[in-house]
Amino acid sequence: IHKCNRMLLLCVIFQMPWISKFKTEGTVDYSQLTFDPGQNELIVGARASHFFALPLQEAEWHCDEFTKGACFSRGKSEEECQNYIRVLLVNGNRLFTCGTNAFTPICTNRTLTNLTEIHDQISGMARCPYNPLHNSTALITSSGELYAATAMDFSGRDPAIYRSLGGLPPLRTAQYNSKWLNEPNFVSSYDIGNFTYFFFRENAVEHDCGRTVFSRAGRVCKNDIGGRFLLEDTWTTFMKARLNCSRPGEIPFNYNELQGTFYLPELELLYGIFTTNVNSIAASAVCAFNLSAISQVFNGPFKYQENSRSAWLPYPNPNPDFQCGTIDSGTYANLTERNLQDAQKFLLMHEVVQPLVPVPYFMEDNVRFTHVAVDVVQGKDMLFHIIYLATDYGTIKKVLSPLNQSTGSCLLEEIELFPLRKRQPIRSLLILHSRSELYVGVRDQVIKIPLKRCSYHKSREACLGSRDPYCGWDLLLKKCTTLEESVRMSQWEQSITKCPVRNVTVDGGFSAWSIWSACSHNDGGTAGSCLCRTRACDSPAPQCGGEQCHGISVEVANCSRNGAWTPWTLWSPCSTSCGIGFQVRQRSCSNPTPRHGGRVCVGQNREERYCNEHLPCPPHVYWSAWSAWERCNVPCGGGIQTRRRTCENGNDCPGCGQVCHDTQYTR
Ligand SMILES: *[C@@H]1O[C@H](CO)[C@@H](O)[C@H](O)[C@H]1NC(C)=O
Ligand SMILES: *[C@@H]1O[C@H](CO)[C@@H](O)[C@H](O)[C@H]1NC(C)=O
Ligand SMILES: *[C@@H]1O[C@H](CO)[C@@H](O)[C@H](O)[C@H]1NC(C)=O
Ligand SMILES: *[C@@H]1O[C@H](CO)[C@@H](O)[C@H](O)[C@H]1NC(C)=O
Ligand SMILES: *[C@@H]1O[C@H](CO)[C@@H](O)[C@H](O)[C@H]1NC(C)=O
Ligand SMILES: *[C@@H]1O[C@H](CO)[C@@H](O)[C@H](O)[C@H]1NC(C)=O
Ligand SMILES: *[C@@H]1O[C@H](CO)[C@@H](O)[C@H](O)[C@H]1NC(C)=O
Ligand SMILES: *[C@@H]1O[C@H](CO)[C@@H](O)[C@H](O)[C@H]1NC(C)=O
Ligand SMILES: *[C@@H]1O[C@H](CO)[C@@H](O)[C@H](O)[C@H]1NC(C)=O
Ligand SMILES: *[C@@H]1O[C@H](CO)[C@@H](O)[C@H](O)[C@H]1NC(C)=O
Repeated sequence: IHKCNRMLLLCVIFQMPWISKFKTEGTVDYSQLTFDPGQNELIVGARASHFFALPLQEAEWHCDEFTKGACFSRGKSEEECQNYIRVLLVNGNRLFTCGTNAFTPICTNRTLTNLTEIHDQISGMARCPYNPLHNSTALITSSGELYAATAMDFSGRDPAIYRSLGGLPPLRTAQYNSKWLNEPNFVSSYDIGNFTYFFFRENAVEHDCGRTVFSRAGRVCKNDIGGRFLLEDTWTTFMKARLNCSRPGEIPFNYNELQGTFYLPELELLYGIFTTNVNSIAASAVCAFNLSAISQVFNGPFKYQENSRSAWLPYPNPNPDFQCGTIDSGTYANLTERNLQDAQKFLLMHEVVQPLVPVPYFMEDNVRFTHVAVDVVQGKDMLFHIIYLATDYGTIKKVLSPLNQSTGSCLLEEIELFPLRKRQPIRSLLILHSRSELYVGVRDQVIKIPLKRCSYHKSREACLGSRDPYCGWDLLLKKCTTLEESVRMSQWEQSITKCPVRNVTVDGGFSAWSIWSACSHNDGGTAGSCLCRTRACDSPAPQCGGEQCHGISVEVANCSRNGAWTPWTLWSPCSTSCGIGFQVRQRSCSNPTPRHGGRVCVGQNREERYCNEHLPCPPHVYWSAWSAWERCNVPCGGGIQTRRRTCENGNDCPGCGQVCHDTQYTR
């Protein structure tokens, strides 16, 4: 069934007239997408020193030749020594953006309405990775502090969560201390209440048998000002906890590596996509976490290791009602040495943050989800969550979050962005709730997908059967519409009680013809050769009761053919009417004529024979030639001259009597 489903999805959802693609100049590699709510504009940060707002503005941001040269001299390639935009943050009327700038990161503050107008240019160190491949995250708070989680150095061995700019002192996580951060890949960050949260995956220090990666939620107090003497310029409020997303069972199957998150602030709900470890079989899952569950774990016991040889043990939280202090009351200024020592050693929480429900919302094998976006949709009777998941093979899965906690989620559709052979990885995913649009950044394009596409369901059955929370059947308009387009909500039908039933039948289709090749055939007992070509009913093969292909699957052409004689014609009339003559008859090698290398006919195509052999001709009688004129019979006065001829070979010359000779006279 699974296979059928998959095939159907590939077949059916292929043509999508509603996708718009914005072809971009150059490449949009490692693109960052963000949105300017004030101007209602999409902002794209692209590789190759290109970034622009569609379709209004474009600003180029190159690295200079000197910086590039320095990058080359440190052994980096042309590809790496570019300016990759990795931070793109809208902050009021400013766009704060950082680029890798050929392994010399820099940041600029620009006017949103005129991206070429640069106000400040500052170092990007600890704000933006050096290496474009390193995973990082950053945010700006309303009070102007920049929180960045990234590698801080050229080699990428010094990761940090770093605060800078704004009015508070810059702080970072402790340097080269694997208990703070251990080869992390940062995924996302959010400004929530008194805290800044970071979500990442890292090598698990607490896991003592072999190297493994765990997913983490980390947080710091936004008004932390660091310690004095101890933890100077360092967070005193950094804590982290493991996030669990597992398929339950006797031995739970762990999806350990967080790849993406989406936070719904109104619900204080975090959706996370998790995959198996890089080197194991691919599998992915979606888990949702309640922020209060995360806070609860941060108020629980710590996990603590006395020294590097001892075991990790739970340790009661010395400050279970922890709250971020206030700067005015001097909470941070009054921190005792004891407080600071605790802050230095108690970082990791003992409890694991469990998802809302023990079973992941959505799981799939043989795929790694790379990005996630969530839309909250008002249906007829309730709110629905729709989860958009980017797959590592370049499609978007649209999943309906569980209707209630005892039912599973539904895969509503799989959106194909490219023809099968031209698929490419998705670099970024951005949802614009205000416009119900999903933007997908790929290598050289930004793709816009409208989320509401009700008019494509032509019948009531199709409309309701799609189980799409965006759509319902308007009884007055007799059309599939969105809730906003409907005339009256009471006249708007929707029935989302179960997952859509998919028509999994697939009608067969022929593959292309093969090339012509020699094949043999039997021509009346003698073997001959032909040209044959074939095709198979496998594009697609009929599935689940779909129809077989109609038509021939083998075509034969240009077969060799041996020649054969036509019957003889009748004998022609005898060439004589008496006396020996001859007559002919003919045939031709055209019954059939030889073709495509077939044999020609053996034998003569013409035959002759004698005729009238026994019909001798009668003798030939004829007059002899006239003799010369004889002498005149009188010497003068008018006489007669005579000449003669005789009938030869008989007596029946014309005009001749019994004695057959003839006389002429002249006077
Ligand atoms: C960017 O501009 C804003 C608005 O003028 C200002 O508050 C902020 O400090 C600037 N940031 C930097 C890094 O210069
Ligand atoms: C944008 O800023 C640049 C640089 O400051 C300036 O030259 C240009 O005139 C500005 N464009 C507009 C439309 O204001
Ligand atoms: C960044 O994350 C992606 C996606 O998980 C991963 O493929 C890549 O290896 C990471 N980069 C580094 C430098 O680890
Ligand atoms: C933020 O911290 C202050 C001082 O500890 C506290 O009064 C307030 O309730 C906190 N706010 C939130 C949203 O937790
Ligand atoms: C999150 O937890 C809080 C407190 O336990 C609870 O009130 C809320 O309903 C939970 N949210 C969800 C989406 O389950
Ligand atoms: C911090 O110390 C100052 C001066 O010693 C004192 O006035 C203040 O109450 C203390 N604040 C706290 C939260 O202990
Ligand atoms: C993670 O969740 C699974 C499934 O709910 C559970 O069986 C397992 O014990 C949890 N693991 C940890 C470390 O909490
Ligand atoms: C959840 O769905 C199941 C199965 O459809 C149903 O029996 C149950 O009543 C639903 N629970 C709630 C709270 O809606
Ligand atoms: C299912 O699809 C097949 C082929 O696409 C079609 O012939 C058939 O009518 C469909 N069945 C239903 C119930 O829609
Ligand atoms: C068959 O022979 C004809 C004439 O020689 C030729 O034009 C045609 O291309 C041949 N067909 C194939 C399939 O080779």
